[in-house]
Amino acid sequence: ALARPRDQDLLGVKVVVSAGPTREYLDPVRFISNPSSGKMGFAVAQAARDRGAEVVLVTGPVSLPDLPGMRVQRIESALELRAAVLEAAQDAQMVVMTAAVADYRAADQLTEKQAKVAQDLTISLVPNPDILAELGGSKGGRVLVGFAMETHAGVERAAAKAQRKNADFILLNYPTQEGSAFGGDDNQVTLVRPDGTSEAWPRLSKLEVAQRLLTEAAKLLPAG
Ligand code: CTP
Ligand code: CA
Repeated sequence: ALARPRDQDLLGVKVVVSAGPTREYLDPVRFISNPSSGKMGFAVAQAARDRGAEVVLVTGPVSLPDLPGMRVQRIESALELRAAVLEAAQDAQMVVMTAAVADYRAADQLTEKQAKVAQDLTISLVPNPDILAELGGSKGGRVLVGFAMETHAGVERAAAKAQRKNADFILLNYPTQEGSAFGGDDNQVTLVRPDGTSEAWPRLSKLEVAQRLLTEAAKLLPAG
């Protein structure tokens, strides 16, 4: 049977989703990264696809297989993520940044493997560009959603981020909270808006979090 139009509320909407960690190589065989599983971003991409959206999923290295019915672009570094997301976002109406972007990369990426030295080793890092903030800087009519994991002062910090990056809202979670850990199938998040208002959601599967996220984000799409 044909899906009811209500279930296809993102028909004609292009959604870009970033997922997973980035890898910042120090030399050809070593990198800085984080334990992001990509599950949250894949859930958002899947839910958006099922609601009729044209989806581009840009993901760092994760163990999840490609999702059918969308363009899946695999990248490694934050700079590659930036290029892919900014390109795909040009004609998109919604961007959801679930990616755990490394904040720094090596100042000099060595082309040969770094040999062990007897002394302490100091690595110089330079900041990566903030992709969500760049998108927010030329927001247009796009809906922008971020994620943030905070260990303390979560709502205040997430609201400040939403404001600074010009995001419509940020879903906040705590690494210590049960059901919010990296790699799990559930998530307990709090929706935080740039004005500091917030709404704690119950512990839900990542797919249910994705559905709620899209329902909130869809409300912000320009009518028509
Ligand atoms: N983000 C991004 N580009 C970066 C860093 C973060 O687009 N270089 C996005 C993330 O994908 C996420 C949101 O910004 O949606 C918040 O990420 P977070 O790491 O919490 O923000 P930071 O500004 O990096 O702040 P912090 O110093 O707390 O890490
Ligand atoms: Ca960060």
